Amino acid sequence: MNSKISIVVLAAGLGTRMRSKKAKVLHRAGGLTLIEHVIKAASEITDPEWITVVVGHQSHLVERTLAHTGIKFVEQAEQKGTGHALRMCQAGLEERGGLLVVTYGDGPLLSPATLRRLIKTQEAAETAATLIAARMDDPTGYGRVLLDERGFVTGIVEQKAATPEQLAVRLANSGIYCFRADLLWKHIAEIQTNNPSQEYYLTDMAEILTRAGHSVGVMEVNDVQELLGINTRVDLAMVDQIFRERKVRQLMLDGVTIEKPETVSIDVQVRIGMDTIVEPYTRILGSTDIGEDCSIGAHSIIEDSRLADRVEVAPMTIVANSRIEAEAHIGPFARLRMENHVEAGARIGNFVELKKTHLGAGAKANHLAYLGDAEIGAKANIGAGTITCNYDGVNKHKTTIGPGAFIGSNATLVAPLEIGEGSYVGAGSVITDPVPAEALALGRARQIVKPEWASRRKALADVK
Ligand code: UD1
Ligand code: MG
Repeated sequence: MNSKISIVVLAAGLGTRMRSKKAKVLHRAGGLTLIEHVIKAASEITDPEWITVVVGHQSHLVERTLAHTGIKFVEQAEQKGTGHALRMCQAGLEERGGLLVVTYGDGPLLSPATLRRLIKTQEAAETAATLIAARMDDPTGYGRVLLDERGFVTGIVEQKAATPEQLAVRLANSGIYCFRADLLWKHIAEIQTNNPSQEYYLTDMAEILTRAGHSVGVMEVNDVQELLGINTRVDLAMVDQIFRERKVRQLMLDGVTIEKPETVSIDVQVRIGMDTIVEPYTRILGSTDIGEDCSIGAHSIIEDSRLADRVEVAPMTIVANSRIEAEAHIGPFARLRMENHVEAGARIGNFVELKKTHLGAGAKANHLAYLGDAEIGAKANIGAGTITCNYDGVNKHKTTIGPGAFIGSNATLVAPLEIGEGSYVGAGSVITDPVPAEALALGRARQIVKPEWASRRKALADVK
């Protein structure tokens, strides 16, 4: 059977237990916000137009985070509980019928496979709803699922409202349900607020549907991890670690060498090619894409960047929002701050900072330099201590250095400036005017040598 599937994700709460100014679902695990993980899984089940997120706290930020996905949003202005949140969707979804899957925005580990299995289970059953539950060694904080002798759900009690006997139940409610939409909407208004929190609990639907003569089934899963709901930052750290472990494991299975994988943080979206080596304590973040046969040195941080094949990043290097072509070498201790493009075979050495700079193929800046807003031609050599003075206190200006130019050590290049192809700049120069191709430019005080000066001074000192 192929039912019409709608998915509602509840994400309006602030998440008081996070003790944060930021809405809970906007906290990150594995490099994505919690809500992005949930929407990623939901998007594999149904079309974006049938995915609805209930927003409330910081709704504009949640909507902005998900704007690119094309899903729908419904506002829950006042957070009166999970049952109330789902009710906000009745007007938009009741007519569609079919099956309605409800998940919570704070459960980011749920897999599409488990969602599919939930839907299949409900389709095959005569029940009004199926919920996912798991037997946990420590179900503290979760609602407890109560079953009758046939294994149908008779009710769900929240931690706060449970009797000691009910607290001993280890079957925990995941917060993931699949309802027959017609029966859900018919009975949802029967949820009351007679509980310690005075909230409309969606979990009461189990008892309500049972009372109305229907049954509610339970689908138990063994992988408790998938159902972890984040309520505190301790939960957040635990879930983050699970995402990271899964990611490095998958990369290793796909042919990436990762030394001491437990020390490495790689965001879920990152791609890394075969035979690349990732050394300990690296962080590879955001939408980074790394080619094959690269090496990423220990303690480096690579963020939102693209590295082609055979790129070497030596230890302690930071690369953000940049593109590095094949066989380039970067670091150790280099910083590529933003929007740089390093062409094939170029070399950037220790204590070199690049910002909005294009470094041509085979060009070198091997030691101690700041290159900002610069266009540097192929095979140019940038000496140690070279500084592009790109900022005049008001505006940023560009420095252009032609192919094959040689910039002597400790040159100060005052932008806007053009240095021609194949030219030389003497060491220690301050260059403010254009340098034509093939010229030598010197901009420093002429050296004075006073022969015998030292012995004369010493002799004078002896007289005294
Ligand atoms: C809920 C379940 C509990 C289950 C647990 C699984 C209820 C009453 N309890 O408890 O049985 O074991 O999840 O993780 O449902 N939300 C809204 N509007 C509201 C209230 C909450 O959109 O008015 C959203 C929150 O943003 C959150 C989700 O619903 O994403 C769950 O809310 P939360 O307060 O975390 O419920 P739990 O106490 O964890
Ligand atoms: Mg929760």
